[in-house]
Amino acid sequence: MEKKIQHIPVLLQESITALNIKNDGFYVDATFGMGGHSKAILSCLGKKGKLIAIDCDPYSIDFSRTIKDSRFSIIHGQFSSIENYLLKRKLHGKINGILFDLGMSSMQVDDPLRGFSFLNNGNLDMRMNPSYGLSAKEKLKYAKEEEICWILKTYGEEKFAKKIAREIFLYNQKNTISTTKELTNIVIKSIRFNKKLLRHPATRTFQAIRIWVNNELNELKTALKKTSAILAPYGRLVIISFHSLETRIIKEIILEKNNIVNIPKNIPLYSKQLISLEKNFKILPKIKPSKQEIANNPRSRSAILRIAEKLKK
Ligand SMILES: C[S@@+](CC[C@H](N)C(=O)[O-])C[C@H]1O[C@@H](n2cnc3c(N)ncnc32)[C@H](O)[C@@H]1O
Repeated sequence: MEKKIQHIPVLLQESITALNIKNDGFYVDATFGMGGHSKAILSCLGKKGKLIAIDCDPYSIDFSRTIKDSRFSIIHGQFSSIENYLLKRKLHGKINGILFDLGMSSMQVDDPLRGFSFLNNGNLDMRMNPSYGLSAKEKLKYAKEEEICWILKTYGEEKFAKKIAREIFLYNQKNTISTTKELTNIVIKSIRFNKKLLRHPATRTFQAIRIWVNNELNELKTALKKTSAILAPYGRLVIISFHSLETRIIKEIILEKNNIVNIPKNIPLYSKQLISLEKNFKILPKIKPSKQEIANNPRSRSAILRIAEKLKK
C-alpha cells in the first residue's frame, strides 16, 4: 500500500462504554480493521484481561503486528466461525464482550487497488480477503442478467436494478468489466442521472456487489446466532451497523427473538408471542453518532450502535 491511510474509528467512546469492560475480562473484536477499537479495549483491560481479534483481510492481519501486547491475539478468518475459534481456545461461554463494527475499513475503501470505491479507479475486486472466493469482476462475468438484477435490488435496494443489470450483462458479453471506473460509467449510462442527487448514482450498485462478493449478510446471520452461547452471563454484544439490511438481521436474530421454544402445534399463538417466549438478551437503548462526530468523520453518518446484554442463565 503506497499512501498512508488514516482511520478514524466510529462511535469509539460509546462502543467502549457499551462493552462495560471488566479489568480481567475476555473480549472479542470480531472486525479488527485497523485496530482502532482493539487498541481502546486494550487500554481499558487489566493485566489478566484478554482480547482476541478477528479479521478476514490479510492486510489487517499485517497491520495488527504493530500491536505488541501479550494480552492480544488475532485470528485470520471469517467471523462466522467465531464459535469454533473460541471452542478451540476453551473460551466458549466465558467472553465478557463482543464487538462487531461492520462494513469496510479505511484501508479497504481508500486503496484503489482493492476496488471498493467508485471514487478511485482500480481493479474490480472488492474481496475483503483477496485470496478467497471470486472477485467482483469474475462474479459479474459469470452471472446471468436476472441474478445481477436480484443482487442490485436485494442488496442495494436499487430502483434502477433492471436497467443497470441489463447494461452490465450486455457489456460483459463483448468485453469484461475489469475496473471500478468501467462499472461506474455503466451505472451512470444506465440511469437518469440527476446531478442534485445527494448520493453518487453508483453507491447502491457498489454496496450490492460488495455484499454479494463477501457474502456479508450470511456471515452476519451465522455469527450473531452464536453470540449468546459464546458470552458469559451479563456479557455484552455491541454492534455498529451501517445499513438497513444489517439492521433487519440484527432485529431478527437479536432484538426481536432469541430462542423459539417447542410449543405443541395445537396451541394457537401469534408469531410475536411465540418469539418473545424465551429471550437470551436484555436490549439497551441504541446510540447514534453526535453531530460533531459526523462533521469530523462523515463515514459515521449512518452508523447505529446496538447493545445487548446476555441474561443470566
Ligand atoms: C469497519 S472495519 C473495522 C474497523 C475497526 N473497528 C477499527 O477501528 O479499525 C470492518 C472490518 O471487518 C472485517 N470484516 C468484515 N466482514 C468480515 C467477516 N465476515 N469476517 C471477518 N472479518 C470481517 C473487514 O475486513 C474490515 O477490516
